[in-house]
Amino acid sequence: MKIAIDGPAGSGKGTLAKLLGSFYNFPILDSGKIFRKAGLILSNGEVVISDYSDLEDALRNIDEIKFDEEILSSEKTAKIAAKYASNKLLRRYINTYIENFAKNKSDIIIDGRDIGTVIMPNADLKIFVTANPESRAARRHHEAIRHGVNVSYEEILRDIISRDLSDSQREDSPLRPADDAHLLDTTEMGIEAAFEAARVLVDAALDH
Ligand code: DC
Repeated sequence: MKIAIDGPAGSGKGTLAKLLGSFYNFPILDSGKIFRKAGLILSNGEVVISDYSDLEDALRNIDEIKFDEEILSSEKTAKIAAKYASNKLLRRYINTYIENFAKNKSDIIIDGRDIGTVIMPNADLKIFVTANPESRAARRHHEAIRHGVNVSYEEILRDIISRDLSDSQREDSPLRPADDAHLLDTTEMGIEAAFEAARVLVDAALDH
């Protein structure tokens, strides 16, 4: 069973992918994390990307490099990742990375922005998780406060809106639901309710 979970920042798609992964015992890949790691490596000032081999050289050790989880999950890193995500060569590199990861796995859950549309167009199940920007910002703000990060709700909302814009307006693989994706609007839902709704979709796809 191949499951594609896409959606904007803060929609809850990552948490949902993790919960489904542990419930069904399916391996999961958080593709945003690869973009975040690549963004951090490429933004260190020494990497010039003029062709594909420059990327292969720069990102060769991406799996071995240890990243600080707090830095990796920060909004600052997200912005760097979103900036590099419009680079066609980087998208090609990460698509190949994901294909290699998915190869020979009969069950997999991948979450991102273009999984159902570009990376796994033949996925058995596609879920597009969404929520209005205000509730996504409120969730991120709550998380930040819990981690002792001093940031305002307004600042997070601004970041979310600007990331929605860059993710959905880029020319290559923009964020959009696949035509055959199931929409899951979590604006009014807690994560438990979202998980139950997703589970209904997975069970139906498994029965198919
Ligand atoms: O899901 P995330 O917030 O960790 O993703 C960080 C950025 O990476 C996001 O703003 C856009 C980019 N991204 C992408 O372009 N395609 C993906 N499949 C996953 C992430």
